[in-house]
Amino acid sequence: MQHRMILNETAWFGPGSIAQIVNEVAQRNLKKALLVTDKTLIKAGVIEKVTALLDKHQLPYVIYDEVVPNPTIAVVKNGVEIFKTSQADYLIAIGGGSPQDTAKAIGIIINNPEFSDVRSLEGVANTRYPSVPIIAIPTTAGTAAEVTINYVITDEENRRKFVCVDPHDIPIVAIIDAEMMASMPPSLKAATGIDALTHAIEGYITKAAWELTDALHLKAIQIISRSLRASVAGDKKGVEDMALGQYVAGMGFSNVGLGLVHGMAHPLGAFYNVPHGVANAIILPHVMAWNTDYTGEKYRDIARAMGVSGICGKTLSEARIAAVEAVKKLSDDVGIPTRLRDVGMKEEDIPALAQAALDDVCTGGNPRDATLADITALYRQIY
Ligand SMILES: NC(=O)c1ccc[n+]([C@@H]2O[C@H](COP(=O)([O-])OP(=O)(O)OC[C@H]3O[C@@H](n4cnc5c(N)ncnc54)[C@H](O)[C@@H]3O)[C@@H](O)[C@H]2O)c1
Ligand SMILES: [Fe+2]
Repeated sequence: MQHRMILNETAWFGPGSIAQIVNEVAQRNLKKALLVTDKTLIKAGVIEKVTALLDKHQLPYVIYDEVVPNPTIAVVKNGVEIFKTSQADYLIAIGGGSPQDTAKAIGIIINNPEFSDVRSLEGVANTRYPSVPIIAIPTTAGTAAEVTINYVITDEENRRKFVCVDPHDIPIVAIIDAEMMASMPPSLKAATGIDALTHAIEGYITKAAWELTDALHLKAIQIISRSLRASVAGDKKGVEDMALGQYVAGMGFSNVGLGLVHGMAHPLGAFYNVPHGVANAIILPHVMAWNTDYTGEKYRDIARAMGVSGICGKTLSEARIAAVEAVKKLSDDVGIPTRLRDVGMKEEDIPALAQAALDDVCTGGNPRDATLADITALYRQIY
């Protein structure tokens, strides 16, 4: 059996590590950046932490701040045009998954213009050249898009979100600095944190999981479950730990895939613009329970990593229930809603949502194969 692992060339961790951007740019002989971000981050003063450094060291840049949550094809296409006119030779992605994913799509299209319609990048596209160099700076502790080979774009016309998987898009440098995440409101910390937990759990039980990614995912589950509550409550160390935990999950799932939780969450983003982490968080315990007989001893490991006591003495079925309950409890404690109707899902859309989830790239990785009828029943159950 052969396994492939793709990771950043360089990753920096720790509060204040954003300062490393200056050396990284100089050492790589990069000349001018297109900084991809969104307006909320400009208003929140987060971007200034980077632009102050660039200004101080006279490193030129142009800002593209038109990214929106669940970024669309139009957002990518505009970014491509701005990159072309800006005379930039690299990208700095600052933000949550949305600016990170937008930067990846821009970087890929600039060097592979035959994919400029964006839609043709869905799934595993056979791009020929690596993306324009990307320096990725996450401001949420969730998606780990800074270390994944995936990006997710929304096709508004066809009401779908599609996942692109391409080793050519991996950012060369990632800077994981919790000070860039500190301004997240508690609800965003909660939603993005449960997204990271979902990556770790789906990555741990996905079909292609193997020993090395198992180690990463278990460690991520442990770090995330011990630190998410503190992070949401405003604890600095909690945010630092979440920054690391979500990255460790990304090192794993990017290389093995996810499962049905993500498959079902993506259509909710496309139909109703539900924040990605909230959609995952609501679906996760239900799909975990549905998958339970296809996970061997893995839920016992998950329960142990989540700190459930006395797990060794439990029967397999007790341990499995304990894992699902631990996930529910964590979501409850950080204030995640429990029903899809609470986030705007409409019952009459279930057939279309189920078809979109069945077609999603992530669904094939689920340990239990799902039919259209299974997914329909799950959406009804969670509605
Ligand atoms: N590439 C991948 O591997 C991958 C993995 C999972 C999810 N995704 C995608 O990422 C997107 C979701 O990303 P996300 O959950 O990180 O959120 P996001 O990037 O969509 O941001 C959500 C909101 O939070 C704000 N925000 C971000 N950081 C902030 C901060 N530090 N302070 C204050 N406000 C802040 C943003 O301005 C935005 O308004 C979805 O489109 C999802 O499908 C990608
Ligand atoms: Fe996710």
